[in-house]
Order: sequence, then structure tokens, then C-alpha cells
Amino acid sequence: MPAPFEVPRISVSGAPLADADLDLIIIPIAQDQAVAAAGRYDAPLSDELTSALERGEFKAKANEIYVARTPGWKAARIVFVGGGPRAEINVERIRRMAVTAAQVARSQKRTRIGWADIEPGAIDAAARIETVSEAIVLANFDNGVHKSRDENQFFIKEAVIFSSGNVASPVESGRAMGDSINGARVLINEPGNYLTPRVLAEKAVELATVPGVTSEILDEKKIEGLKMGLLLGVARGSNEPPRILVLKYSGAKGGNILGLVGKGITFDTGGLSLKPADGMERMKDDMAGGASVVAAMRSIALQKLPVNVIAVVPMTENMPGGKATKPGDILKGASGLTVEVNNTDAEGRLILGDGLWYARQLGATHLIDVATLTGAIVVGLGKVTTGLFGTPQPWCDHIKAAADRAGEKLWQMPLFEDYKEQLKSEIADMLNSPGRPAGSITAALFLKEFAGQGPWAHLDIAGTAWAEESKPWQPKGATGAMIRTLIEVARGGLPS
Ligand code: BES
Ligand code: MN
Ligand code: ZN
Repeated sequence: MPAPFEVPRISVSGAPLADADLDLIIIPIAQDQAVAAAGRYDAPLSDELTSALERGEFKAKANEIYVARTPGWKAARIVFVGGGPRAEINVERIRRMAVTAAQVARSQKRTRIGWADIEPGAIDAAARIETVSEAIVLANFDNGVHKSRDENQFFIKEAVIFSSGNVASPVESGRAMGDSINGARVLINEPGNYLTPRVLAEKAVELATVPGVTSEILDEKKIEGLKMGLLLGVARGSNEPPRILVLKYSGAKGGNILGLVGKGITFDTGGLSLKPADGMERMKDDMAGGASVVAAMRSIALQKLPVNVIAVVPMTENMPGGKATKPGDILKGASGLTVEVNNTDAEGRLILGDGLWYARQLGATHLIDVATLTGAIVVGLGKVTTGLFGTPQPWCDHIKAAADRAGEKLWQMPLFEDYKEQLKSEIADMLNSPGRPAGSITAALFLKEFAGQGPWAHLDIAGTAWAEESKPWQPKGATGAMIRTLIEVARGGLPS
């Protein structure tokens, strides 16, 4: 199998663009500054851009591309990429512009590229450089590695960011982020037959194996020893044994511990409450939350952030085998709570129940879980925005602020007590599937029962983990949603 991605060399330079010995140079341009920008270059480049703007052939709208030749420059091609109105340019816009333009470079088989730093007042140079580095790595991703074909892959080998803010450290953190996100995307895209719980556990350990991270895989015997009846109940329907992955990173002496818990369902058939055939193939991505927390761990450790982090990822298939949990069965989790399973397709909250409890057991003071948990969040927030649930409010605010800095869309949903009514069971402590109304909220309230005391938040990425169609800035398939936000939370430190 060819490599699914490469991480190129990236550096920052203050040298003049025209002298750069590269194959292609990307110049981002804000819409309302395009004419002024054209004046900055020597003829004939300035003439060419000016006339493209006059003819309306290029308007510098967001992610719009215009390719020019560059007589007199060392690089053979210039790719102008539009930014839209200057006031709109934020971290996310820059990321999309850079991925879009870097994809053009790859499609033209240019392996050594440059990026001319853009200066939209609101974002400082370090954040811009980090974002562009990350974006170039994200663009260097091939989701077709299982195709047998003989064409060569074209990856960007070298990138130079031309900026007066000559700072090297954001280049490295951006590379680490892109590399970690790509690593998660590879796992999320893998089909269920290749990526069983045992394989996921091993591959996740590989992804997280960087200096400072220790890992442990709990097998079915250990899981039984911990009395994790919820995880075991979901795993019963499968011939593949479950796993729990535990990662630890200590970047600070003592103090708070961030606990990241990710849903690791390697395939979700629904179990005996079987899903319809149409679209079931997508359920190979039901471990996206798990891959995200592992990728975040990798990046946090690569960046040597001064925080302590524990990651817990319960992993299993959700299958309708002969021993499968049946609707109406009662399961007892490691925390002691009993659950009436009225729908075996609400399996994510079951395995996360044991996972959250275990993360607290291991000493996590601040919990965040990430999960492709409910179809209802796709109804509510679509494929654009991740749902945030949690308590207390300052912890949610902290995470929302991190998402804003990271350029990821996140929106908080309520957890009013009144909704808890729906979770009531006649025969057990709780029901796992409390009906259609407010499906994402009741799922979050279910998780809350296992999160113990202290701050906890839940990110429902069912809408955002997977792109149904490719975009210039995002290939079809795994997106890597919320990994940057988790890293940014760790950067922001934990509130006491
Ligand atoms: N993995 C699914 C949620 C999902 C749905 C993810 C669509 C991505 C796209 C989850 O395990 C599930 O099946 N949830 C059920 C819960 C219901 C039975 C209470 C759902 O949302 O329908
Ligand atoms: Mn399900
Ligand atoms: Zn699921």
C-alpha cells in the first residue's frame, strides 16, 4: 500500500518572492485588496493580474484560483488564491485557502512550493504560519491508497512560507497538527474489515507513539476484570474481542489532568436493532471520536505542551451475532449503574459510559468525550457544526473559546434537567434509547451520569466527522473534526 500522506519540509523565509528557487508560488489575495495587491508586483505579473481582475476572470472570492505564468521569476507558476473580503479572513479561511491552492500545486505535479504570507490584521503572524503549515500537510493526503494503479503519487516535498514574521516554532506545531490529523483521517477512512478493534488498538498506539506518551491496551480479560458490562454488552454480538486503549502524557508536575474519551466503534451495524442497508457503509467511521483523541494526544506530546492528559478509547464492533445483546436486556456498567437496552443501536453511549467512568478512575479531573453519537445532531446542526454539551458552564466556555481560536465550528446545546424524564426505565436505572425528541440532548444526559463529579463536556461529531463529497479544501471522507480544538484546549491550560 502506498503512503497515504507525507509531511514535507517547511521553512520560513524573508527573501524576495521573485528570487525563490521553487516550482510554484501561492499568493493569497483579499477581495477588497486585489487591485492594490496587483500593483505590488513587477510587470508582467502585475499586468496579468490587473487584466484578470478587470476582465472579471478572477475576483479573489474565497478559495478562487487563478494560475499565472511568471516570466522573470524563478518559479514557473504563480497560483493566486482568493480570500474573499479582508474582514472575513480568519484562521479557518486561511486553512481552506492554503489547502485549496496546495491541491492545485499537487495536481500540477509541483513538489516545491512557496506561500506568500497574507496580512489580515486580526490574526497574528504565528497563527497564520501555523495554519498554513498545517494546511500544506493536510493537502498532502491521498485517500485512494487501496486502489491498485500505477500512476505515481505526487506529494509536496518542500514548502517555504515567505513572511516577515520570521518564526520557526509555529511551522513545527503546524506540521505536528497536520501530521496528527492526517494520521486520524487514515484510520477513520479504513474499512471495518481491515480495522477491527484489535487492529485499531495497535494502529492507535502507533499513532500515539511519540516521546512522552505511554500506552496500554486492555484486552477482554482485563475489561471483564473491570466489570465493564456496558462495553462487554455491545461487544457480545461480535466475533472480534473488544479493547480499551489508555494513553498517558505528563507535561506538567502534578495538578489537573485532562481526560479525553473517544468512541471507538470500528463498525456500527446497529446490532439486533439493525440499521437500514442504505448508507450503512458509512458506519466504518464510528471510531472517529477515538481516532481524534489519539491524534490530539500525539500532537499535544509532539508540541510538548505543559499539561497532563489521559486518553481512554473503548473499542468494539456493534454486530448482531448469536450472542448479541437483545432489546430489553439489562446491562450493568463498571460504575454500578444498570441500563435497560431498548435499542442496541444506541451503543455509543454504552461504551462511553464505561470509558468515562474509567477515565475518572484513572484520575482525570477535566473530561471531554468525542463521539459520532447521534443522527439527531445531524438534524439539528447539519454537517457544518459540532454539538457541544457539558457542565459547568465555564468549562463549556473554555472549550468553545478553544474551538474559535482553532477555527472550528462548535455550538452549545442545553442539558436542562427536564429532559432527564425521558431516560427513566421501569426496570433499570436508565434507558439507553429515550426516543426521538431531543435525541442528542438525552444521549448527552445519559453520558453525564457516568462522568462523575467535576467538569465534563461532550462533543457530538456525527455530522462533522465525515464529508459526503469532496471540496477543494477537504477530500471526501474523514475530516479530522475537533482534533485542533482538543489541542487548543490543552494549550489554553485547564481552569482550576
Ligand atoms: N453511530 C450512530 C450515530 C450516527 C448516525 C453517526 C448518523 C453518524 C451518522 C449511533 O450509534 C446511533 O446509531 N445512534 C442512534 C441512536 C438512537 C437509536 C437512539 C441514532 O442516532 O439514530
Ligand atoms: Mn448505533
Ligand atoms: Zn454508533
